[in-house]
Amino acid sequence: ETGDTTLDIGFVNTASCTSAITYIDGDAGILRYRGYPIDQLAEKSSFLEVSYLLIYGELPTEAELEDFTERVRQHTMLHEDLKSFFRGFPRDAHPMPVLSSAVSALGTFYQDSLDPFDKAHVEISTIRLLAKLPTIAAYAYKKSIGQPFLYPDNRLSLTENFLRMTFGVPATDYDIDPDMVKALDQLLILHADHEQNCSTSTVRLVGSAHANLFNSVSAGIHALSGPLHGGANSAVLEMLDGILESGGDVDTFVKKVKNKEDGVKLMGFGHRVYKNYDPRAAIIKKTTDTILNKDGVGDPLLDIALQLEQRALEDDYFIERKLYPNVDFYTGLIYKAMGFPTKMFTVLFAMGRLPGWIAQWREMIEDPATKIGRPRQVYTGETERDYRAIGDR
Ligand code: SDX
Repeated sequence: ETGDTTLDIGFVNTASCTSAITYIDGDAGILRYRGYPIDQLAEKSSFLEVSYLLIYGELPTEAELEDFTERVRQHTMLHEDLKSFFRGFPRDAHPMPVLSSAVSALGTFYQDSLDPFDKAHVEISTIRLLAKLPTIAAYAYKKSIGQPFLYPDNRLSLTENFLRMTFGVPATDYDIDPDMVKALDQLLILHADHEQNCSTSTVRLVGSAHANLFNSVSAGIHALSGPLHGGANSAVLEMLDGILESGGDVDTFVKKVKNKEDGVKLMGFGHRVYKNYDPRAAIIKKTTDTILNKDGVGDPLLDIALQLEQRALEDDYFIERKLYPNVDFYTGLIYKAMGFPTKMFTVLFAMGRLPGWIAQWREMIEDPATKIGRPRQVYTGETERDYRAIGDR
């Protein structure tokens, strides 16, 4: 379980850093946050408690959780000037660049407490980000549908507050659905950290230059927006919609993937590390059944997803390449059932991943030995040659 570096012929494959936060065994399909198995945390913990665990390294006592919850609760509101920031975006702006820009802008309101080496500054920035990202995410959605922003209601939990600010309107009360809150809280737990994935490595790399926490997280949000990374959950829905529109013909689609027609991939399948079923996908699949069959009305997209999974798990093409469902395969179906539009799916991923980004950034700042060093390369360009005048080229 100790990271070691191996130099494969022709390809440098090294551990990018050491970290004590999250452990993954890709072959065995194991994921643990600070030693606790993901299935136990998903079943028994809460997103805010898991955020505490990732950031401070231990599960909180009741008093510690109460204090942490209260500190976060005090910071859910945005500065009024930051609210006007959203007006600068076009109505159809994708919420991910809005989220990233707003997080970077958020830091500009706290110029006096951005020093990565001042423990009090790091602590208040941690609390501000955890508290305000859900508010920013809700406002990015409200902006896209032209509805008024709702102020946070601190009598609610962080997840309840987010749902109310997202789906509530000033004209009527918003009824909190406990099943939806529980399902979303669990999804946020499952996304909370995942060792050195693309977006977390981005946060660490940007932070290693001593950029402040807001700017480092803002960079991580952009990395997450890529369709091969956090953008995959939206791409899965688009893929399932496409199959449904073509009459639900799963076999023809699978054939296209195997023939690599137009580079089409089975989105939500495969993983750089898991060469087994992603443990998060197994947990999410159970929640999918609960949420989608809640009102007894199934979803044709779920049927297509189940057929796709069945086909892929039996097909040598996918078995040989160790392609199994990953965290993104089912999440989009749940988010859609909750009422989120596809372009908000990756925003939800970012909300979940935030405590992991913060924990990893703090670990790197506190212990430079865990820093991702300046990456090197294997040079494959031209050997030395002399400059030639333009007439001689
Ligand atoms: C996330 O790093 C993390 O931890 C990320 C994440 C996190 O929590 O932060 O887990 C979240 O990003 C999950 C992944 C979401 N992305 C997708 O679902 C997009 C679809 N997946 C692929 O893009 C791909 O599987 C990757 C990028 C995720 C992983 O690629 P690998 O393991 O490096 O595999 P590869 O690109 O080297 O491909 C190996 C072979 C190739 O075929 P051959 O050239 O050998 O014939 O597998 C094929 C690929 O074409 N392949 C796929 C495929 N993924 C790989 N073929 C069809 N569909 C796919 N999804």
